[in-house]
Amino acid sequence: MQQLGQYRARTEQQLAARLERDSIAPRLQQAMRYALLDGGKRVRPCLVYLVNQLLGGKLTDADPAACALECIHSYSLVHDDLPAMDDDALRRGQPTCHIQFDEATAILAGDALLTLAFELISDAAYPLPAEQKLQMTRQLAIAAGDRGMIAGQMFDIQHEGQMLTLDQLQQMHHHKTGALLSVAIELGALSSGQVEPNQLEALRRYGRAIGLAFQVKDDILDIEGDTETLGKPQGSDQAANKPTYPALLGLDGARQKLHQLHQTALDALREFGPQADALRALADYIVERNH
Ligand code: IPE
Ligand code: IPE
Ligand code: MG
Ligand code: MG
Ligand code: MG
Repeated sequence: MQQLGQYRARTEQQLAARLERDSIAPRLQQAMRYALLDGGKRVRPCLVYLVNQLLGGKLTDADPAACALECIHSYSLVHDDLPAMDDDALRRGQPTCHIQFDEATAILAGDALLTLAFELISDAAYPLPAEQKLQMTRQLAIAAGDRGMIAGQMFDIQHEGQMLTLDQLQQMHHHKTGALLSVAIELGALSSGQVEPNQLEALRRYGRAIGLAFQVKDDILDIEGDTETLGKPQGSDQAANKPTYPALLGLDGARQKLHQLHQTALDALREFGPQADALRALADYIVERNH
């Protein structure tokens, strides 16, 4: 998908520029760069850019929001990999942050990436009205926090080795992964400055479907992927006895769920016509990817 490559490159370049700053703690900076730059698929920033463009926004108005979201996502991966959480040694094809540095540095680099996100989005140089930036800040905080991603992560950790109901599993995935993908839609819309309520409603339905699909596919890849392609350890969920879609429904059941979610995402975009082809391609990519 052409746009994905283009926005991925834009994200890399924007992130690198934002980490060029003086610090009295070079090791912290090094760990932040290590966790943030090189290797991620950049799906969340791409989604911000795609929605911004669909709604006729300016890309420069989306840059800080796209970067802020990727900072939060990257921090979440650093903390997710810690020994106290999933205890994984490989991420994005490299040793995880706490292996490459040490646990304390990884915790602090994660903290610093999380706070950097809010510094970027509230920057006076960000050329959007203060009201829009305030809304973005609040939406991002809610998605990342105890009513969003962190709630999902807590639920995940607390239910290792337990059989969940389908409803519980879905709630967990909507929180731990869906929340950040959904807020990408909100940030894209806010950065464009103009969206009809029915358009926003349709984009939200799309976001909710691909948000859940993203984690269902991640669960499937834990079983049928290979470590080298994944860039993270295959079989980690099974080893930790994690509640996942394949664990509950079997591989075929999980694949069926993924197919349904893909269809729901495409249906939600129906009213947009060919202008939303790039978002359709992103939905295809999310369900077809091999890492
Ligand atoms: C991995 O996210 C964690 C989940 C939420 C499933 P990604 O698959 O987006 O990881 P990167 O950013 O591409 O490494
Ligand atoms: C993590 O889910 C979601 C986050 C909020 C980081 P996973 O634990 O399944 O992510 P991976 O498989 O380690 O990337
Ligand atoms: Mg995890
Ligand atoms: Mg993990
Ligand atoms: Mg996983």
